[in-house]
Amino acid sequence: MKIHRQKAKALIAKLTLQEKALLCVGKDLWTTQPIDRLGIPSIWMADGPHGLRKASFSTAGGLGNSEPATCFPTSSALASTWNLELIHQIGEAMGKEAQVQGIQIILGPGVNMKRDPRGGRNFEYYSEDPVLSGKMAAAFINGIQSQGVGTSLKHFAVNNQEFARMYFSSELDERTLREIYLPAFEIAVREAKPWTVMCSYNKINGTFAAENPLILHKVLKEEWGFEGFVVSDWYAVNDRPEGVNAGLHLEMPGSGDVSVDKIFSAVQTGKLAETRLNTIVEDLLAVILKAHEACKPDVTYSLETHHKLARQASAESIVLLKNENNLLPLPSKIKIAVIGEFAKAPRIQGGGSSQVVATQIDCLWDALLQDYPELTYTKGYEKDGTTSEKMLEEAAKLANSADIAVVLAGLPKRYESECFDRDHIDLPEGQNRLIETVVTAQKKTVVVLTNGSAVTMPWHKNIPCIVESWLGGQAGGSAVADILTGRVNPSGKLSETFPHRLLDCPAYLNWPGEQGKVHYAEGLYIGYRYYDTKEIEPMFPFGHGLSYTTFEYSEMHTNRIDFSKTDVLKVSLKIHNTGAVSGSEVVQLYVHPEQSRLKRPYKELKGFCKVALEPDEVKEVVFTLNHRDFSYYDPESACWVADDGAYSLQIGASSRDIRLQKQVKLIDADPVPFVFSRFTPLKEWMTRPKALSLVEPLIEKKSAEIALHQDEDAKAMMEALFMDLPIVKLVQFSRGQFTEEQLDEMIHKANLRK
Ligand code: BGC
Repeated sequence: MKIHRQKAKALIAKLTLQEKALLCVGKDLWTTQPIDRLGIPSIWMADGPHGLRKASFSTAGGLGNSEPATCFPTSSALASTWNLELIHQIGEAMGKEAQVQGIQIILGPGVNMKRDPRGGRNFEYYSEDPVLSGKMAAAFINGIQSQGVGTSLKHFAVNNQEFARMYFSSELDERTLREIYLPAFEIAVREAKPWTVMCSYNKINGTFAAENPLILHKVLKEEWGFEGFVVSDWYAVNDRPEGVNAGLHLEMPGSGDVSVDKIFSAVQTGKLAETRLNTIVEDLLAVILKAHEACKPDVTYSLETHHKLARQASAESIVLLKNENNLLPLPSKIKIAVIGEFAKAPRIQGGGSSQVVATQIDCLWDALLQDYPELTYTKGYEKDGTTSEKMLEEAAKLANSADIAVVLAGLPKRYESECFDRDHIDLPEGQNRLIETVVTAQKKTVVVLTNGSAVTMPWHKNIPCIVESWLGGQAGGSAVADILTGRVNPSGKLSETFPHRLLDCPAYLNWPGEQGKVHYAEGLYIGYRYYDTKEIEPMFPFGHGLSYTTFEYSEMHTNRIDFSKTDVLKVSLKIHNTGAVSGSEVVQLYVHPEQSRLKRPYKELKGFCKVALEPDEVKEVVFTLNHRDFSYYDPESACWVADDGAYSLQIGASSRDIRLQKQVKLIDADPVPFVFSRFTPLKEWMTRPKALSLVEPLIEKKSAEIALHQDEDAKAMMEALFMDLPIVKLVQFSRGQFTEEQLDEMIHKANLRK
């Protein structure tokens, strides 16, 4: 970047004000403005998170008109692989495709948290957990950028619903912002240095992201050291000069002369400092120059290899939710009834700007037919999920005459897309009826689900085997066949909680907001953080997923029991494949604080690792933890704090299946300085020796009076009242003997560090 920055700096001196303003606004739908006279090139951006969408320059063509590209599984599926190497490879593949198609920046990945399963773009996002999302994004970005193509980490920030996304304000407290909604971005920025970040449409606590100096400048640039440029989400700009001030480098798409003129006159009238504009243009140019130089016109790739990678990723993302009596993998030479339209017309991705025109599409029917020539099929429901008595009868007959029934169910296309949220999280009623009908006719029923985010399963107790196949991309059909037949041993684990019902969801009472605001009243408690802390049983917990083999966890060790703020804690354990087939296990590390000064979720994911093991093979897994992994954000002192005391390190096969745990103790962490004020209650003064010595003489008389009370209940009440009394009230209590001046002096002394 250094050399490009120097070049950018040199160019600033040569650019006119008009040209600088031009550079801050896109040329058209997808490219930046070139300045030919100075040899400044234009760069081209294209979606998206799970495949390339090099679209045309007219909006009229709509979606589905882009150049064909490999359609990988969508992000919720990719995150369920928990395989960082694989995500890196997908990034590399997409980087190559971008090079071939002449794209310099890929508009992804999206790392917004899944605050509620109804979120319309949940399929496009990784997880409800910031660590899993952040690590996935970092691997993906590193993969793409290793090919000389940039990325755009999006949608920054707190954009967790589609409802009113262009004008609603996400209202949240600072801890929730710092601990839940920013860390995935932070991890990705720190570990992968995306060339660009895309700001979101919404407001954050009243200020639009596109003009938000806290988010775009203070957090992103000053705290995290981001060196690239920030691009607006498409049409997210509201006040362009304000955006330049706040740290928004590029408006997309271009808005003709409208914004250019505004920037120009803001500088001329002194509303916007030209030095500020220069800094913004310098950041922008540094990336544009770098991206242009990294173009490799001679890159080639094999469609087939990328398709294979998509198939591998899809198979690894599939989560075996339930497998009673080891119904799966399917034995060979049996009669299988395949029921459900998705078997022949698969839904491979969600709707909206991430929609890829796939290079080919596999379906389960074709893939299974190769192994089971006697396969039978019936549709079961219409595209919209409705069914009829005739379809149900036909399905029951077919299921009954086979050895096993495989029902393909899931969300119709109309349910999941950018621009709207789901109203509920149920499958279409027709499909639920179909599943109940089939299992009545055939006990051995496997349900394979196609959906981008959690759904309810009212029938889950009656169905012996449930497979979550997500939106599996262009090779999803063959990947499901790989899992069903046992060619691939399932190793996916849920990247989000599946609740029993929508009513159980943490944001239920505050979704999607009203009168211009959505209050994140559940605070830190989203996903498993909520279900665990509240002890609500989910249908399938975060991190859950079965395998055709079994794993034994043992020998958990830490390099220390007592550790200090600067120590790196190493956690190791052994994992043993105790079954008959090879398989991979996702080992998860959660940290549970045994106590805390501020309220915290019961436990939080701080590490994970996917381990491949042959039968009887044993491997060691090692995690490292540092101070931040034990910390929460303290808004009063504006820093990350870990309290002294005990923490349980929990190793799980899911968030609800903890196999090993060990306690460690943080000692000599810097205590957060307590700040005394006029409203600090007496109880706080009395638990700190120095403050106690200051306040004691003043309260002796009152304490003695309370002690004289005969009635124990009244005494308890008086004590409670007294202890909770803000110190300032002593001025009134003393009827002027203890003065305001004395109070200030006492507070000053109590706050002295020595
Ligand atoms: C989406 C972005 C996308 C952009 C360009 C917007 O509607 O929110 O995620 O990158 O369009 O297609």
